[in-house]
Amino acid sequence: MSAVKTSPARDDAPFAFSEESLAEARRILAKYPENRARSAILPLLDLAQRQHGWVSQSVVEAVAEITGAAPIRVWEVATFYTMYNKAPIGRHHVEICTNLPCWLRGSDEILRAARDVFGVGFGQTSEDGAATVSSAECLGACVNAPMVQIGDDYYEDLDYDSAHALFTAIKEGQPVKAGSQIGRQCSAPEGGPTTLTTDPGTAEGGRWIAPDSPAAGGSAPGTA
Ligand code: FES
Repeated sequence: MSAVKTSPARDDAPFAFSEESLAEARRILAKYPENRARSAILPLLDLAQRQHGWVSQSVVEAVAEITGAAPIRVWEVATFYTMYNKAPIGRHHVEICTNLPCWLRGSDEILRAARDVFGVGFGQTSEDGAATVSSAECLGACVNAPMVQIGDDYYEDLDYDSAHALFTAIKEGQPVKAGSQIGRQCSAPEGGPTTLTTDPGTAEGGRWIAPDSPAAGGSAPGTA
């Protein structure tokens, strides 16, 4: 188990919101009442991380300043959520879900593929800086397990071979396709739909039609 960091790490290049980020920060802050700017700590940390790559001491201080919160409050938020990187990461953040459904469906094989491609395991960054590999708790896509998150995208229905191909592609800067890696649509059953496969407006489609109704060829009571 990794130790909990009790204070943010310093960085060589201190963070300051860029002009573009500052404009976005103001847009975020405008969503909250003036005396509730601290409610924007989460999106502002995310914004700062997208610019800086990780949450350093200067990021914490910048978010504290813009929200009027004490830096320790910002740090408390940052350390509660795994989505905030408390140390510099590689060009890609490969988060492998190891929670129960993904583990039962083979997340150990996904980690093996990551080790084979990047040469590192959980909590480590590859020597070439291509990727940092992390273990993630359930990412809410269990029906397409096992899966990984890379940046903002999910890659699902993986096995060793497809994970190996995916990791190799991102390492080499090749285009990759997000979503199911076996081609199923969202979370639909593998091989295509198994229910509601016919027009629900017809008898074959499953709509129940009373045997004596005109639709079934009978006659309605009292009309014969
Ligand atoms: S257990 Fe992996 S997405 Fe839920």
